[in-house]
Amino acid sequence: MHHFRYRLTVIRISHLQKSYPTAGREITALSDINLHINKGEIFGIIGRSGAGKSTLIRTLNLLERPSQGQIFIDDEDITAFDSTALHKLRQRIGMIFQHFNLLSAKTVAENIDWPLKITGKYSREQRQQRVAELLDLVDLTQHGDKYPSQLSGGQKQRVGIARALANYPQVLLCDEATSALDPETTQAILRLLLDINRKLDLTIVLITHEMQVIRSICDRVAVIDHAQIVESGRVVDVFLRPQHAVTQKLVAESHAFDPDNNLDTAGFKGKLVRLTFVGDITYQPILNQVIAQTEALITILQGTISRIKDTPYGQLLVELSGSDVAIKEVFSQFQRYAIHHEVLA
Ligand SMILES: Nc1ncnc2c1ncn2[C@@H]1O[C@H](COP(=O)(O)OP(=O)(O)OP(=O)(O)O)[C@@H](O)[C@H]1O
Ligand SMILES: [Mg+2]
Repeated sequence: MHHFRYRLTVIRISHLQKSYPTAGREITALSDINLHINKGEIFGIIGRSGAGKSTLIRTLNLLERPSQGQIFIDDEDITAFDSTALHKLRQRIGMIFQHFNLLSAKTVAENIDWPLKITGKYSREQRQQRVAELLDLVDLTQHGDKYPSQLSGGQKQRVGIARALANYPQVLLCDEATSALDPETTQAILRLLLDINRKLDLTIVLITHEMQVIRSICDRVAVIDHAQIVESGRVVDVFLRPQHAVTQKLVAESHAFDPDNNLDTAGFKGKLVRLTFVGDITYQPILNQVIAQTEALITILQGTISRIKDTPYGQLLVELSGSDVAIKEVFSQFQRYAIHHEVLA
């Protein structure tokens, strides 16, 4: 038990559908979901309340049985598993929850030990050693003898994470794992998840209704709305150039910088343009160079520099004025420097 033995994995979701029969009519919670989750990535699924997020993530370990469609993990169709195979599957897929779901009558160490104990595979000594490793991993070494009621929300979620990792899973599923936490604790838990993802090469699938969570740690994202995936891709692409109206709204709400909502544009005579820089050019004085080469006037109205996971990006809202020729020249300069530009008004 000295070394982490996490295996890499791929999840493939094919034509997944889930409906709940209710008294009046059938509710479709998932409708023709198709997704591919890569080895070792952090994959986010975002959507509004009732969109189908929990249903989707719960089908990945068959806590919820799909009505139609298949889920492949390492090319095995898990929807065809019998109960023995299912039992084993659940050891390969850890899960953490919004409300932690800890056993309140057991100590922190006992909570983490529980999934080890029920496998019947390990001696007491092996288990003790593994629990100590896990406590260390989530930075709770001092708290093993406490009860859940004696812990903060962030500490409880750390216990949830340690417990979920106990049996060396390939995949960690997170159902709104930070929604009950304050912003600072949320960031600490997200950092821990990112750390675990890198250290253990663990595939993480998380669902959330907060774009901030996606932006902090996810590599790719899918947007779910009314039981369907409406958009998916790399977080940088989806966040900076959202295509679907639902995504655009989620992104706009999460922006500290939101030119569309915060600015009274009635007084502007020139063109209102949003510029987006992604990657290394974010920190280079490119706009200076453009300004030096044009007769058009560029007025900066708002600006921000931030990060999406590891990628820096900047956004500027500028007003362009001058002759048509000069403005056209500015646009070709933007193109030349790979500055994405969007004319807002
Ligand atoms: N056991 C169930 N029986 C009937 N309908 C259900 C059941 N579980 C979920 N639903 C319905 O399926 C739809 C999707 O629910 P789901 O819990 O997956 O949404 P969600 O995106 O997780 O929402 P939230 O952000 O509020 O947690 C909703 O219309 C919900 O009412
Ligand atoms: Mg939910």
